[in-house]
Amino acid sequence: MGLVLGIESSCDETAAALVAHDRTIVAQRIASQDEAHAPYGGVVPEIAARAHAERLAPMIEGVLTDAGVALADLDAIAATAGPGLIGGVMVGLVSAKALAMAANVPLLAINHLEGHALSPRLADPALGFPYLLLLVSGGHCQILRVEGVGEFRRLATTIDDALGEAYDKTAKILGLGFPGGPAVERLARAGDPVAVPLPRPLKSSAEPHFSFAGLKSAVLRAHKSGRYAAADIAASFQQAAIDCVIDRLDRALESGPSCPALVVAGGVAANAAVRAALEAFAARHGMAFSAPPPALCTDNAAMIAWAGQERLATGAEFAPLDMAARPRWPLDPHAEPVRGAGYKA
Ligand code: KG4
Ligand code: ZN
Repeated sequence: MGLVLGIESSCDETAAALVAHDRTIVAQRIASQDEAHAPYGGVVPEIAARAHAERLAPMIEGVLTDAGVALADLDAIAATAGPGLIGGVMVGLVSAKALAMAANVPLLAINHLEGHALSPRLADPALGFPYLLLLVSGGHCQILRVEGVGEFRRLATTIDDALGEAYDKTAKILGLGFPGGPAVERLARAGDPVAVPLPRPLKSSAEPHFSFAGLKSAVLRAHKSGRYAAADIAASFQQAAIDCVIDRLDRALESGPSCPALVVAGGVAANAAVRAALEAFAARHGMAFSAPPPALCTDNAAMIAWAGQERLATGAEFAPLDMAARPRWPLDPHAEPVRGAGYKA
């Protein structure tokens, strides 16, 4: 049935999954490290790498046992080779190399962002190329035109924080713990989205780039003023963030060729309010809308295995055993650097 083993270890999720050519997720296991990082309010790279090293091998053994298959039965082993926290990426990539060598199975080096970008096609067989993709996670915030496997045109990126990072920082300011996105979404449901006046950074600016640093600072000021309930701050923050996303997508549509579908992926795509706003936006513009189920939005190994399947189907090259882990790995290598952009790929 054409099985690919996917391995994901680029941030704080250790995951392994077996995905068949026909899109069946045959087995998957995932271990979050939230508890290990929570006392620090963010992911500590050294702690993450050590946890991946402890958990990954038994997890791979587990999914093979769950599915009742042997390594030699696999069509390929697909591992995230970047971008991400380099210690964790190395744990996953080196494990994949060793297994590939021992079982004589080809190795695929997957770009974590391509895993997110193609994940909607794992969930939605009807989704064809091209599509307009909003990729919103803890480390990345981009609008891309996805023209095919490995064919991406970046239309916009963030000049400072990613959207997931803005959620995490808002959660930290409001004392909601880590990771912050789901906690802010929950609290926002009980709040008034127009109670707190907050800015919409870069709204109406000519290029469709994002900026969230100013919004975070305004959230901090609103919180320190003592004038607003935490739920109202959460709801107003979420509304401001969604307004920014919609404004920037409008600009991206105006400045590029049309796309039949709008697609959202990455951790923030798990947010119901964000999904609802995007669905309405797509309907206004006569576009289809596709979003993976929430468990495929946040980091997971099924999306890495699926990107491997897509690469196998397009005859992509296998990775050499000396393939290096890449802390940075932009999807569109021709995209211009953006003024003010920090470490984002
Ligand atoms: O894709 P992901 O799991 O990891 C990265 O590659 O970054 O995304 C994690 C990010 C975190 O910033 C987290 O707070 C955010 O996605 N996130 C959410 C929600 N679930 C996860 N943000 C808003 N609402 C959510 N429900
Ligand atoms: Zn991710």
